[in-house]
Amino acid sequence: MPMSNIAVICRDPADSFARTLADRLVLPLLAMSDALSSGCEFFLCQREGCLKLLDRQTLKKGGLFVEVDPRPGEQASYPAPKKDLLALAVGKKSRTIVDATAGWAQDSLAMFRMGYQVTSIERSPVMAALIRDGFERLAQKDWVQRRKLEPPTLLVGNAIERLANLQEKPDCIYLDPMFPPKRKASAATRKSMAILRDILGDDLDRQVLFDAAIAATGRRVVVKSPDHAEPMGGKPSESYHGKLLRYDVYLTDT
Ligand SMILES: C[S@@+](CC[C@H](N)C(=O)[O-])C[C@H]1O[C@@H](n2cnc3c(N)ncnc32)[C@H](O)[C@@H]1O
Repeated sequence: MPMSNIAVICRDPADSFARTLADRLVLPLLAMSDALSSGCEFFLCQREGCLKLLDRQTLKKGGLFVEVDPRPGEQASYPAPKKDLLALAVGKKSRTIVDATAGWAQDSLAMFRMGYQVTSIERSPVMAALIRDGFERLAQKDWVQRRKLEPPTLLVGNAIERLANLQEKPDCIYLDPMFPPKRKASAATRKSMAILRDILGDDLDRQVLFDAAIAATGRRVVVKSPDHAEPMGGKPSESYHGKLLRYDVYLTDT
């Protein structure tokens, strides 16, 4: 991520949260009134109880954050039923899953809500700060506390290295790297994924990541990809097709 393009905004000069965040991420700290003239394109700001990523249009209102509540249409019970394509791809019998490309953590969180034990890896320090904030909010949710659940574990760094150093092989390693776009994303994902692409670019080392995942998994690697993309590891053992995307499953314990 070109870190010159992003700043932390503080609403009040005594805001120690913003100062600590800016120091930790080595980003400039700006007053809200200086944000537009700063030339920065993106901003991190604590707003309405969560850490938000803003662009120049959403500076005054709105912003993107890690949504920890169930997605529209998803059953709000715990564990949520393992009935969608994601559950079929990661395997109903899997227990431990490493999501090596966490991003907005929506897949990590969907898997967590289905009862899987999830570890999420993210290499962008800015995205990792947004995820950490989301997982902290998740830990405060009533349904999480009542069941004494631990939110997913977050590892910050390049998954190519982190996967090689896992203590135990997980049942499944899940990959959703950024592919070059072919067509417009759906309205629901356009904004958050477009912003991710703007600040991070495509994941050009995704083939190396795939090879690292195959070497590090106990049983299976799942790759989520747009339907137009070539399978990353040749013919997959199984494939699950959605409207515009595909989950390719590579079984390694056969
Ligand atoms: C398309 S997004 C993932 C979206 C995610 N599945 C979700 O539900 O929000 C890809 C993310 O993977 C991260 N990523 C890609 N390659 C990585 C690697 N080698 N190590 C760690 N993170 C990586 C990128 O920084 C980006 O945030």
